[in-house]
Amino acid sequence: MKKLLLANWKMELTESSTLDLVFQLKKSMKKISKVEVAIAPSFIYLKEIKNLLGRSKIQLSSQNVAPADKGKYTGEVSAAMLKELGCKYAIVGHSERRIKLNETDELVNRKINQCLEAELTPVLCVGETFEQKQQGQTDSVLVKQLQVALDKVSNLPESEIVIAYEPIWAVGTGQFLKAEELFAFQRTIKRTVSSLYTEKFYDEKVRFLYGGSINSIIAKDYWVCDYIDGILVGGASLDPMEFYNIALEAE
Ligand code: PGA
Repeated sequence: MKKLLLANWKMELTESSTLDLVFQLKKSMKKISKVEVAIAPSFIYLKEIKNLLGRSKIQLSSQNVAPADKGKYTGEVSAAMLKELGCKYAIVGHSERRIKLNETDELVNRKINQCLEAELTPVLCVGETFEQKQQGQTDSVLVKQLQVALDKVSNLPESEIVIAYEPIWAVGTGQFLKAEELFAFQRTIKRTVSSLYTEKFYDEKVRFLYGGSINSIIAKDYWVCDYIDGILVGGASLDPMEFYNIALEAE
């Protein structure tokens, strides 16, 4: 599996700035071959972006997905709808949704099930708050988030999943964990996933991403690390040159 570079554009861009960014990335990313590049725009632009991307290798992701397959869920977008629009990935359980919209691990578990039913690859976000880090609780927070989110998922261990470790205190703050500091947390995640499923499942089907204030100056350190399978980028992905430079560091 190639390493993954995923851009999370959050609710930051209007239609014209979204399409402008896609247009620039479609050109620049042609030179990128070592990593898989994916973008997560707002739902409402997915169809237009799919058309604009044409035969580009850039993949599409949603930023969220409904916890049910269909029915009376006003305002929600199902995994099957996203698949039909051309999405390969869906971000699930991003810390901004957990904190600002009270998303629980149980809800995240339902969303992961939905993704896998529809053959979308979930990008499960996990991570601790600053207070939890201060109290030395990072490992136990990660274990609990994973145990609930990945509990009895029907299409595992056959399907691929992505797990993005994003310490909440590092998202959008300019603070980050160094690549070498991630080893211990990757170990915790691997151990937990292996005990829920198998180590073979982790080795063959799981990609471990880091996210939190990544920019092009530090990106190389993460790309060269063999236990890090990709990067999730927020702020720095809104600048086409900066995002391209992050990808370029992997070449
Ligand atoms: P950041 O965001 O790169 O701006 O820290 C990461 C994310 O929210 O996924």
